[in-house]
Amino acid sequence: MDIGDIGDIGDIGDIANVRGRRITIVEVGPRDGLQHERVSISTADKIAFIDHLSVANLPVIEVSAFVSPKWVPQMADATDVFAGITRTAGIRYTALVPNVTGLERAVQAGATEIAVFAAATETFSRKNINQSIDESLATYQHVCERAAALGVRVRGYVSTAFGCPYEGGVAPEKAADVAARLIALGAFEVAISDTIGVAHPGQVPVVLDAVLARVPLHQVALHFHDTRGTALANVLTAISYGVSTFDASAGGLGGCPYAPGAAGNLATEDLVYMLDGLGAVTGVSLAALSEASAFIALRLDHPLPSRYAQAAAANKKRLEAGD
Ligand code: HMG
Ligand code: MG
Repeated sequence: MDIGDIGDIGDIGDIANVRGRRITIVEVGPRDGLQHERVSISTADKIAFIDHLSVANLPVIEVSAFVSPKWVPQMADATDVFAGITRTAGIRYTALVPNVTGLERAVQAGATEIAVFAAATETFSRKNINQSIDESLATYQHVCERAAALGVRVRGYVSTAFGCPYEGGVAPEKAADVAARLIALGAFEVAISDTIGVAHPGQVPVVLDAVLARVPLHQVALHFHDTRGTALANVLTAISYGVSTFDASAGGLGGCPYAPGAAGNLATEDLVYMLDGLGAVTGVSLAALSEASAFIALRLDHPLPSRYAQAAAANKKRLEAGD
């Protein structure tokens, strides 16, 4: 019996009309998660964590970031992490890059897919990458051109799409505009991102309506941080809109070093537990994913925020105590 399995509960409903539908989970824990941790995680432990995630069959794993090590020291070992992981056929191993230097480093390390990251607000863009939105898109134009020449696929992020730690509310059209511009540059998909975890199910349809007026549904993904506990509800709302790709991080690790107060991403196991319950098809092993989270939890200086991981740990303790 899986630790989270409560047995047969009879027929389950299909409120999101998702039974049998393929939902793609993009695992961002090794990048978005570990970039924010206070303790230093060794390269060997990062590699072992990613290998655990491969065993769990996450279809996409964001391995690291080829950004300036002065800006994000936790990602300075991106090349060694890429060199050390054991790749599983069919899993896409990706990396975040901020410029052509990052792209060249990523390709040298063996990445065949990368992600660039723009923002919907000027202040966040400046704080995160030291460029205005227009300047960053000019940089990404060079990245996309070079990536196309190298046969590398490019994903785009739009940060602060639901709210900004510096500017507050964000007009949905601003997020939609940056998303459309990234697609026009050649991104195959845009992850509309709630950098600080302020989104709620009342807001998700408003942002999606604006984005979907500019970007085809199959090119839209969502990236929720779970600061206020609304990420799962947001996913459910977006699923009923037809969105099929969601970012998450094992254990709920994460945050952004340039987004004060941002908590971790939606926890992958919380997402998989909900999707399994709804009968969606993810291909992810919840048991193996729990082992990945348990592995990285031992290297951190705080408990994992994932509710599923907490329940699994409590259950394990109870079983070991013979209760
Ligand atoms: P800068 O200081 O304006 O630019 O940084 P620079 O060109 O002057 O570069 C500074 C130094 O970094 C130079 O070294 C460059 O060579 C070096 P120096 O001459 O001083 O010795 N450098 C690099 N080194 C390695 N790899 C590179 C690279 N580029 C420059 N690729 C820059 C501008 C964009 C580089 C910097 O601001 C940066 O790296 N920012 C990254 C910030 C970051 O990683 N933030 C977290 C990820 S975003 C996120 O978490 C949000 C997301 O999850 C979605 C969401 O939730 O919203 C994606
Ligand atoms: Mg993020």
